[in-house]
Amino acid sequence: MSRIRFDLLSLFPEVFRPFVNASILRIAAEKQVAEYHLHDIRQYSRDKHKKVDDKPYGGGPGMVLRCEPVVSAYEDVQNMDERTGTAILLTPQGKTFQQETAKRLAREERITLLCGHYEGFDERIRDMLPLEEISIGDYVLSGGEAAAMVLIDAVVRLIPGVLGHEESTNNDSFSDGLLEYPQYTRPPEFRGLKVPDVLLSGNHKEIELWRRAQSEKRTYERRSDLWKDITQNRS
Ligand SMILES: C[S@@+](CC[C@H](N)C(=O)[O-])C[C@H]1O[C@@H](n2cnc3c(N)ncnc32)[C@H](O)[C@@H]1O
Repeated sequence: MSRIRFDLLSLFPEVFRPFVNASILRIAAEKQVAEYHLHDIRQYSRDKHKKVDDKPYGGGPGMVLRCEPVVSAYEDVQNMDERTGTAILLTPQGKTFQQETAKRLAREERITLLCGHYEGFDERIRDMLPLEEISIGDYVLSGGEAAAMVLIDAVVRLIPGVLGHEESTNNDSFSDGLLEYPQYTRPPEFRGLKVPDVLLSGNHKEIELWRRAQSEKRTYERRSDLWKDITQNRS
């Protein structure tokens, strides 16, 4: 069974603690398919006040994360394990995170995540370290921690053996380029709204056809971008 080591480098590593100790992430750790290591970048600052940032050259607002503590933290953490894996810099300027990215990363044996803050990183950190730059979307967060959590959650649930039913990730939205079909559970009627008859029919073939049609309808109505990709690939 595969096992992924996550190294989380941040100025606020404590925000990850409750996150990795709950729900699916916790289950993954208990099943020994994921392990989480938290590291405080500030501990690597040689400044007597443990300062990690400074004013931008050329002027302008905000503060920039300095090279020395970030590079030292990265190098020290990478040496903690013989697996190299992949190292990711969370940044709004990176390639947008997709389900395909999560699938690829779920096959890694180690993922190191570098979370920025303030105005972001001194550019030389990008020049110097072998980092893949990932964004979780076209908006700006105050720090990379929330972005790292999104990434970890999406990856961990894809590690074989983490979820009870393997097929539950196969049907998820985006897995086959489509959004997922509508889901229902008991009761069969709630305030006059009924579950579609086909789902109560017990006819698995009919249910499968209905779900496929619903997935396509949803994708067509809600995500013309995905629908375009699918129809182009078919032709
Ligand atoms: C305020 S942002 C810095 C933004 C930077 N000044 C820019 O315009 O590209 C601080 C940190 O939050 C994280 N961050 C913000 N938005 C993000 C996003 N959409 N995806 C991933 N990380 C993000 C990054 O780690 C970044 O270094």
